[in-house]
Amino acid sequence: MIVLEVENYQQMSEKAANIMFQYVAEGKKAVLGLATGGTPVKTYDLLVSRIQNEKTDLSHVHTVNLDEYIGLDEKHPQSYHHFMEEHLFQHVPIPKKQTHLPNGNAEDLNEECIHYEQIIESLGGVDIQLLGIGANGHIGFNEPGTPFDQKTHLVDLAPSTREANARFFASLDEVPKKAITMGIATIMNSKNILLLASGESKADALKQLIEGSVSEACPATVLQKHPSLTIIADEAALSSLSDEARSKINQSNVSC
Ligand code: GLP
Repeated sequence: MIVLEVENYQQMSEKAANIMFQYVAEGKKAVLGLATGGTPVKTYDLLVSRIQNEKTDLSHVHTVNLDEYIGLDEKHPQSYHHFMEEHLFQHVPIPKKQTHLPNGNAEDLNEECIHYEQIIESLGGVDIQLLGIGANGHIGFNEPGTPFDQKTHLVDLAPSTREANARFFASLDEVPKKAITMGIATIMNSKNILLLASGESKADALKQLIEGSVSEACPATVLQKHPSLTIIADEAALSSLSDEARSKINQSNVSC
């Protein structure tokens, strides 16, 4: 695990955008696992600027998103399809047919879960998976209690997750109750993982992730077992760390 501590959201986003840019600028096939939510918005902004300024060829880039709400039209402003168009896809030349999100309106949602896994497999797996983290330690929409061996599946969203995401909707009632998400096993299969966290609301979850014991009660703790995990977090998000964990980060800014 590599933990990069930065001062604030802006610095977190700059570092993350630079890392993501390296993957797409190499000129060889890259499969990006993408995330939504408030956390990566600035990362996408900065990535878009860099790609536009440098006129980067993205014909070799493929994307797979973590999750999508069930029952929201793709054009709904809060669907993750819409989010990705708004923050990334419409601004950069990734071929449309190379961008993938789970279809939360599929007629057979169980079949869609299998189909989504097949897409990821056919691409040869994810090279780098971008992740945020929920205040309850969820990753993607894998809520506390999700078995670690699950692949793409359907979930009932935790009340706390719906409440956290209500800020993007007109009211809590409008937040969908179900979603389709890559499972923990899917996420753990990614070759590299880049997790971003900013703000005090993530401090407890991040403390669990960095120094807690691995437990399905806090899904993000499974990431301790990933061979190539980088966390970029700001001071507020790291504010609950014990002195011991903090000193390890400060000494080397790398290991934990
Ligand atoms: C959402 C998403 C996650 C995201 C997390 C944190 O519900 N499904 O992929 O990482 O919650 O969101 P935010 O970045 O808005 O705090």
